[in-house]
Amino acid sequence: MSETTTTFAPGRVEILGNHTDYNLGFVLSAAIHLGVTIEASRLSEEILEISSETNQRSISIELSNLRPLTEDAWANYPVGVIKVLLASGFRLSGMRLNISSDLPLGAGLSSSAALEVATALAAKALFDLEFEKMRLAQLCQKAENEFVGVQSGLLDQASSVFGKSHQLILLDFLNVTVETVSLPANASLLLLNSGVPHQLTGGEYNERRKQCMLAAKSLGIKSLRDATLAQLESVPLDEVTRRRAIHVVGESDRVLQGVQALRSNRLQAFGDLMFASHVSSQINFENSTSYLDVLVDLARKTPGVFGSRLTGGGFGGSTVSLIQAGYANEIVRTISLEYHKMTGANCSAILTEPSEGARILS
Ligand code: GLA
Repeated sequence: MSETTTTFAPGRVEILGNHTDYNLGFVLSAAIHLGVTIEASRLSEEILEISSETNQRSISIELSNLRPLTEDAWANYPVGVIKVLLASGFRLSGMRLNISSDLPLGAGLSSSAALEVATALAAKALFDLEFEKMRLAQLCQKAENEFVGVQSGLLDQASSVFGKSHQLILLDFLNVTVETVSLPANASLLLLNSGVPHQLTGGEYNERRKQCMLAAKSLGIKSLRDATLAQLESVPLDEVTRRRAIHVVGESDRVLQGVQALRSNRLQAFGDLMFASHVSSQINFENSTSYLDVLVDLARKTPGVFGSRLTGGGFGGSTVSLIQAGYANEIVRTISLEYHKMTGANCSAILTEPSEGARILS
């Protein structure tokens, strides 16, 4: 057991496979270079003290009375993780967590999962808790589902935990396994934040999840992982439910095709799958916004871009583009200017490489 520890957990970018995680399908994602850092220390009292450098607020709460906070809702992610750890039988006592982050909030880059994962890792290091990496991700997901109330899948937490530099990670949510797929060195990832915050606590995410469950139930299968596009055409489903399911099944297929494309160095083929994914979000899943659509349309016309799509839950947030390494400045300049002209909004850019997952810094 150590008295103090510093942990870091990165944000993530979903590269292909949208809303497939809770449907037990496939996703290709990466951890990014930005994330949440927590300086943690043990306390002799049975309390949890949390302060955030981002918003300059702090809270103190008794371990015996951990409950969702309404005024300081930002703290619910770490509080939820500690509550889930205690409820799962892990032995820990008082601690103080000082949070700082260079991850933009509301950009769809999973700042909440990064905060959860950094918290779990800090508790693990301070109290010598024994759990493996996937279990850590699952405990954090449980905190988000049960404590914060978003019925999200495991993608964000698993990507933050398993990220690898220069590698994309291929997650299979049926078998709960991770593999790595190299990203060719001549490709980079460009994130463009539409400037319209994404709000996962909004009802749309949970609503989409329900529609997917309904589709699987109507098909008589456990999850959409077991559905095929041919089946979706032939079974009587209402129009909206069918489109939701087509998106999910199409996305999982695109992930597997994308892996083949990357393994044979066909970056343009991979990029085309990204564009197809965005079109499916627009038409079938209806989780895009007009701002994200403008960003993707502009990317399509800009030299040096292989592919582009919305990333993460949708309904705002960012796009991810696969671009030719070395072209970023020119691409950002062109797209930002046009985006402002067309929407009046400003986008902000982050150029990133697939990065290492969560770790103990000291
Ligand atoms: C959010 C959720 C994830 C996943 C994506 C969509 O990021 O937290 O679990 O469902 O949306 O793929």
